[in-house]
Amino acid sequence: MTQALRLGLVGLGAVGAATVRRLQEQADLLADRAGRPLQLVAVSARDAGKNRGVALDAYRWYADPLELAAAPDLDVVIELIGGAEGTARAVVTAALTQGKAVVTANKALLATHGLTLGALAAQQQVPLLFEAAVAGGVPIIKTIREALAANRISQIRGVLNGTCNDILSRMAREDCDFPHALQAAQAAGYAEADPTQDIDGYDPAQKMTILAMLAFGVALTPEQVKRSGIRHLTRHDVLQARRDGKIIRLVACATQHADGTIHLSVAPEMLLPHDPLAQLQGPMNAVIIQADLVGQLILTGAGAGGDATASAVIADVLDVARQGSACGNPFPVKLRT
Ligand SMILES: NC(=O)c1ccc[n+]([C@@H]2O[C@H](COP(=O)([O-])OP(=O)(O)OC[C@H]3O[C@@H](n4cnc5c(N)ncnc54)[C@H](OP(=O)(O)O)[C@@H]3O)[C@@H](O)[C@H]2O)c1
Repeated sequence: MTQALRLGLVGLGAVGAATVRRLQEQADLLADRAGRPLQLVAVSARDAGKNRGVALDAYRWYADPLELAAAPDLDVVIELIGGAEGTARAVVTAALTQGKAVVTANKALLATHGLTLGALAAQQQVPLLFEAAVAGGVPIIKTIREALAANRISQIRGVLNGTCNDILSRMAREDCDFPHALQAAQAAGYAEADPTQDIDGYDPAQKMTILAMLAFGVALTPEQVKRSGIRHLTRHDVLQARRDGKIIRLVACATQHADGTIHLSVAPEMLLPHDPLAQLQGPMNAVIIQADLVGQLILTGAGAGGDATASAVIADVLDVARQGSACGNPFPVKLRT
C-alpha cells in the first residue's frame, strides 16, 4: 500500500469523538477503500482532561489548534469545532494557507466565508470538503456537486433542521405547546441549551445558502434568506393545521426562476400529508431537488448526530485519500452586480 494519509483533527465533541471512533474501529476497511491507511496523528480540543469515550493516547495533543494546523507532518486538517468566526475560521484558513487539505462540518463558516475559503483552497490547489456541513449523514453536497453535475437545478426544498422537526412532530404527537416540546427535545439531546440558531431558522438558512451557491453557481449570503422560525407556533396552530388536514414543518427553499432571479426562504409551512417533507418524524432531514435531466430527486436520512455526521466527514477524508475530489474552488460562483 502507498503512504498513509496523515490526519489532524480539531474538536472532539459529538462529531469529533464519533469520527475518531470510526477511524479506530474500521481502520482496515477504510484503508482498503482509501487505497492507503488513514493515520490519525494529532488531535486538539479545549479540555485535555475530558473523557470523550475514545482512547486518545496514541495521538499528539495540541492545546493550541493553530499549532496543529501548522504541523508539517499532516496532510489533512479536520475542523469540528464550529462557529463562523474565531478559532474554527483561523484553523481552516491556516491549514489551507499551508497547503493542507481541509475537511469541515461547519455550516456557519461555509455559509459566511465559503467564497473566500474556496478561493484560497483553489489558489493553494488543495481540497476544501464539507459534506457534513448540510444535513449530517445525508450526502447532499456530493449529490449536487458530482452526481447532478450535468443538470440545471431549478429548486431545492428541504427540512434541514432536525431540532425543529423534532419539536414540531412532538407538538403534534403529544398535543403539547412549544416550550414543553422544546424541553423534551433538549432532554432527548436533539436541542442545544441555547436553541436560538435552530428555532429561529438561522441554521437552516446557513445550510440552504450553501446548497443554493452550489446548485446555482451564484454568490449568496445567509442574510438574503427570508427567514422565520418556529418559536411563535402554538399548540393551537398545530391543532388547527391538523383539522385542515395539514402538517406544519419548517421548510427551507431555494428557487431559481426562469429570469435567473433567486429566492431563498426558511419558514414554517402547512403541508399536505403526502408531501415527503410532512412525513418526516423526529430529527430527520430530507431534501427534494428539481433538476432538468433527472426530474425530482429526494434524499432522506439522519440530519444530525455524531455517527451520521462522522459518516460524511470520513467520506470526505476518503475522497482526499483517493484524490477523487478536484482541488478547485468548491464554490465556482459568479458574483452578481
Ligand atoms: N452535532 C451534530 O449533530 C452535527 C451535525 C452536523 C454538523 N455539525 C457540525 O459539526 C461541528 C462540531 O459539532 P459538535 O456537535 O461535535 O460540537 P460540540 O459537541 O460542541 O464539540 C465542539 C468541540 O470543539 C472543541 N472546541 C470548541 N472551541 C474550541 C477552541 N477554541 N479550541 C479548541 N477546541 C475547541 C470543544 O472542546 P471541548 O470538548 O474540550 O470543550 C469540543 O470538543 C460544528 O460545526 C457543527 O455545526 C454537527
